[in-house]
This record gives sequence, C-alpha cells and structure tokens, in this order.
Amino acid sequence: MLSPAELAALRQDYSQRGLRRSDLDPDPIQQFNAWLHEAVDRQLLEPNGMTVASVDAVGQPWTRTVLLKICDDRGFTFFTNYEGAKGQHFAANPRAALTFWWNALERQVNVTGTIEKTSREESAAYFHSRPESSQIGAWASGQSEVIAHREQLEKQFADALAKYGGAEIPLPPHWGGYRVIPQTIEFWQGRRSRLHDRLRYTRQPDGAWKIERLSP
Ligand SMILES: Cc1cc2nc3c(=O)[nH]c(=O)nc-3n(C[C@H](O)[C@H](O)[C@H](O)COP(=O)(O)O)c2cc1C
Repeated sequence: MLSPAELAALRQDYSQRGLRRSDLDPDPIQQFNAWLHEAVDRQLLEPNGMTVASVDAVGQPWTRTVLLKICDDRGFTFFTNYEGAKGQHFAANPRAALTFWWNALERQVNVTGTIEKTSREESAAYFHSRPESSQIGAWASGQSEVIAHREQLEKQFADALAKYGGAEIPLPPHWGGYRVIPQTIEFWQGRRSRLHDRLRYTRQPDGAWKIERLSP
C-alpha cells in the first residue's frame, strides 16, 4: 500500500502544448472529433471510453465507463441496457455528464446535457454490427442486478445462445442507445504549474455556441 506521503507526492506537470481560442473550431462537435482523431492516431487504449454520470432519485450521483459509438451534430451516443441502474436514473432524471480523459495527450473533455434514447432503428443497426457473443450477452445479462454466483450468468448465456444462436438475433427490448445532447462542452489542456487551458462552449437559446475561457 502507498504511504500517505507517497500518495500525496504523486503529481505530473503538463507541458506538451497549449490551447488558444484561435485554435478552436467554432463548432464544438468538430473540435471534439479533431481531438478524438488525435487520441485514435496516438493508439491510446479505448480512446472512445468516457465516464458517464447519472443522478438517482435522492440526488446521489453515480458514474461508470462506457464507449462512445456515435458522435454527430445531434450529440454523443453510447449503447447499454435500459433496465440497469443508469437506465433507471435516466428514466427519472434525463440529464447526464460525460468525461473523456486522454492522459497521453494531457487532455480532458467534459460534457453536460440532456439525454434521450436513440430510435429503435439506430439501436438495431448498432446491435447487429456487434459480434454474436456480445448480442447474446445483451440477452443474457440483467445489467446491474445482484447475482448469486458467476455460474448463474454463464447458464443465462448458454440458455440465450441455445435460444438465439445461429440466426439473426433480435434486438432485446431492454437494450439500445442513449444520446447526450450537449449543453456545455469544455476542452481542457494541461499546462505547466497548473495553469491549464480551459475553454468552454455553451449552447445559446438560438442554437449558437458561446466560447469562454475558464480559470484552471
Ligand atoms: C472500458 C469500458 C467500457 C465499457 N463500455 C460499456 C458500454 O459501452 N455500455 C455499457 O452498458 N457498459 C459498458 N461498460 C460497463 C459499465 O462501466 C457498467 O459497469 C455497466 O454499464 C453497468 O452500469 P450501471 O449499473 O451503472 O447501469 C464498460 C466498462 C469499461 C471499463
């Protein structure tokens, strides 16, 4: 175990590059795609991995990692089980926050916004692009439920494989996409001496984006 002093001493100074307003695309989705592209080009592990926050009925925030699968003018889309914990939170409180952390690039992107389900057509298109084992897994797992032991999960997988394997697997009614429709998108670039660059886009009532620099 790390001593308190060892843990407190863990820190990194950032020095690769800065972020100026003049570097930014006026459209934050274009800007995000440029950064995502660089993360892919640098061969980072899971460059489309993002932390998603949801808030439950008593105001308790929860987070977990998911994979961004569609990013376009409508927002940031990931796919999941609608009946799991986050699905229940979003049904009661359709708001989310996202964080991308690309450590090798010393970059973070934070998004806040509202959340909506994707159409069944979009969910089906993505579902059927997944490997068969992942499609079976979506039928086999009651995401976020407490299970007695791993054998139970493996039996559910074997049962679903026996039922659906070998033919086109139907999209489970409890599975699909969520799209986060951004209200704010902040781009963070680490700089020396903790004087990081933070530039935040905020969507205006007329749909235009306002860009502001934030103190680190
Ligand atoms: C790198 C990584 C990627 C993940 N991608 C997804 C994903 O795209 N969709 C998903 O439902 N869960 C994904 N998970 C699992 C989630 O983190 C989480 O355990 C699951 O969605 C249940 O969350 P909930 O109980 O809060 O609803 C991923 C986990 C990791 C570590």
